[in-house]
Amino acid sequence: MAGNTTGTIFKVTTWGESHGKAIGVVIDGCPPDIPLSESDIQEELNRRRPGRDQSSSPRKEEDTVEILSGTFEGKTTGTPISLMIRNRDVKSADYEQVKNLFRPGHGDITYFKKYGIRDYRGGGRASARETATRVAAGAIAKKIIAREGIEIIAYTRELGGIAAEQIIMEDIDRNSILCPDMNAAGKMETKLEEAKKMGDSIGGIVEILVRRCPSGLGEPAFDKIDADLARALMSIGTVKGVEIGAGFEAARMSGSECNDPITPEGFATNNAGGILAGITNGDEIVIRVACKPISSIEKEQQTIDIQGRPATISIKGRHDVCVIPRIIPVCEAMVGIVLADHLLRQRAK
Ligand SMILES: Cc1cc2nc3c(=O)[nH]c(=O)nc-3n(C[C@H](O)[C@H](O)[C@H](O)COP(=O)(O)O)c2cc1C
Repeated sequence: MAGNTTGTIFKVTTWGESHGKAIGVVIDGCPPDIPLSESDIQEELNRRRPGRDQSSSPRKEEDTVEILSGTFEGKTTGTPISLMIRNRDVKSADYEQVKNLFRPGHGDITYFKKYGIRDYRGGGRASARETATRVAAGAIAKKIIAREGIEIIAYTRELGGIAAEQIIMEDIDRNSILCPDMNAAGKMETKLEEAKKMGDSIGGIVEILVRRCPSGLGEPAFDKIDADLARALMSIGTVKGVEIGAGFEAARMSGSECNDPITPEGFATNNAGGILAGITNGDEIVIRVACKPISSIEKEQQTIDIQGRPATISIKGRHDVCVIPRIIPVCEAMVGIVLADHLLRQRAK
């Protein structure tokens, strides 16, 4: 069964491959009368583009979005919105060297086992290129939630084992890693350089905050908001873990430490991360996403070819050293898509 659609009211379907003619997304269920221009979406797409920092892939993806349907005179009409991004910087020849090999850490081997077809050009549908369409849909979702005052902020919490020790919001845009701790950001940059020199890659943790989210969003039992957020974030390639609030640390606390005391002014602490029993409690939603190191590395690795014969592989060419910071707008987009859907579900009651 195909799995390219997400959402109940705000329905998002993405399509396209890394090295096909174009990629795109259809958004059904967007309310009418929301101002929407290509430049609104473009602004978000530019944040995901490679080449923003020294760890990013030098592939020049222009990511120019075209609105094909669903708007009239700069406003949504309530009909399906179709967005398309043409693939321009397509160099399928770069992938000749790995044509018959399964790249470790990538979906090459599982896609081959599932579909029996090897689209070796840049990972095909499994490529991170697909995430551009999520960012485009997320730009619209963000507009829906912004009408209620909801804001999503995401930043680098950890990279290559170096953690941000302090969160100074103003500092996020003052360094290429989007880290709220300038001192840690400097160390992270050095770590990236070191990994690059070694022909290796590193991973990290993105933290996402949702501010001014009203209480009441989430549909127990199976569409709890934390379940849907985890599902949406886990569907991004490279994501290996999602934590809400105290997350894994909660397993090491006692009940009296973990429970957030309730006062007439609100919750005294926020170990719940803004969600109780799958429903938002009005507090800040706190999510952390663990990203594995980039799979394509120059360092030689063991693999097999499509006939199952042992081989070694070294991936040269255009690749990021770390998925951070490029994954940050993708995480924001997925959180936005889930919140927009749940907001519309709650309003439909
Ligand atoms: C924004 C973004 C950029 C990425 N860039 C690369 C890249 O340059 N090279 C690479 O090998 N993997 C990259 N990835 C990861 C792959 O797309 C792929 O998902 C991963 O190797 C398979 O991981 P999974 O098992 O978690 O799905 C990127 C992922 C994201 C979300």
